[in-house]
Amino acid sequence: MAAVEIVALPQVSPVFIELEGVSKTFIKGRQQVEVLKHIQLQIRQGEFVALMGPSGSGKSTLLNLISGLDTPTKGRIRCGETYLEQLNDRQLAQWRSQQLGFVFQNYQLLPVLTAAENVALPLLLKNMSKKERAMRVQNALEIVGLEGRADHLPAELSGGQEQRVSIARALVTDPQFLVCDEPTGNLDSKTGQEILAMLQTLQQDFGKTILMVTHDLHAARFASRTIQLQDGQIRGEAA
Ligand SMILES: Nc1ncnc2c1ncn2[C@@H]1O[C@H](COP(=O)(O)OP(=O)(O)OP(=O)(O)O)[C@@H](O)[C@H]1O
Ligand SMILES: [Mg+2]
Repeated sequence: MAAVEIVALPQVSPVFIELEGVSKTFIKGRQQVEVLKHIQLQIRQGEFVALMGPSGSGKSTLLNLISGLDTPTKGRIRCGETYLEQLNDRQLAQWRSQQLGFVFQNYQLLPVLTAAENVALPLLLKNMSKKERAMRVQNALEIVGLEGRADHLPAELSGGQEQRVSIARALVTDPQFLVCDEPTGNLDSKTGQEILAMLQTLQQDFGKTILMVTHDLHAARFASRTIQLQDGQIRGEAA
């Protein structure tokens, strides 16, 4: 009798988000500008994807569509079993607040609030006790190594610390997906590397799915996959 060979199948994570033939056209005066052209893209759960491309190639537009902040002119975006176009405004807002955390190049912290108060913002709309909110904020600040700065105002923090606060704010609802638009664009290279290493930890140890826009090839090395966008089309991919 032939021996039965047991072959270990490669572990492939499920697709977290899929773009099916997505195009986006903006109308400026009488002109129509097709900024994204028939984008086909799958991002698997737990991937860290870097999105690169020249200025004006459509990177931020793509992030806005994937985040449900804007809608495609053509094509569809699916997250799990859900097509984003099928959600009404309230459901879309709920989807975003449960699944997504945003990190911006310029941090977008409120200057009159302390680090802890900024981090708490996404929780204010959730039905939750003060005690639980405080615990979650502390946990998020600990993950980014800023538990000692909870009472500082943004102006009393360095740029790298401000970005950590904004990452803690993105993490505080425990979303599956982090969307980062040039998170190290305003930081010196050493501080930028620390932020990138932290995002990599969030992927590898916390299982987050990350999509990050960057202009920097060094930054892209922290990702598990790099996608090149040019003139609104995906021109290349590297693992
Ligand atoms: N709301 C809008 N109305 C009209 N045109 C827009 C709008 N938003 C973006 N565009 C145009 O779409 C193109 C792509 O813009 P986008 O912001 O996505 O580029 P990007 O790749 O993020 O660039 P950068 O690296 O400079 O941030 C640009 O030509 C821009 O002028
Ligand atoms: Mg942009």
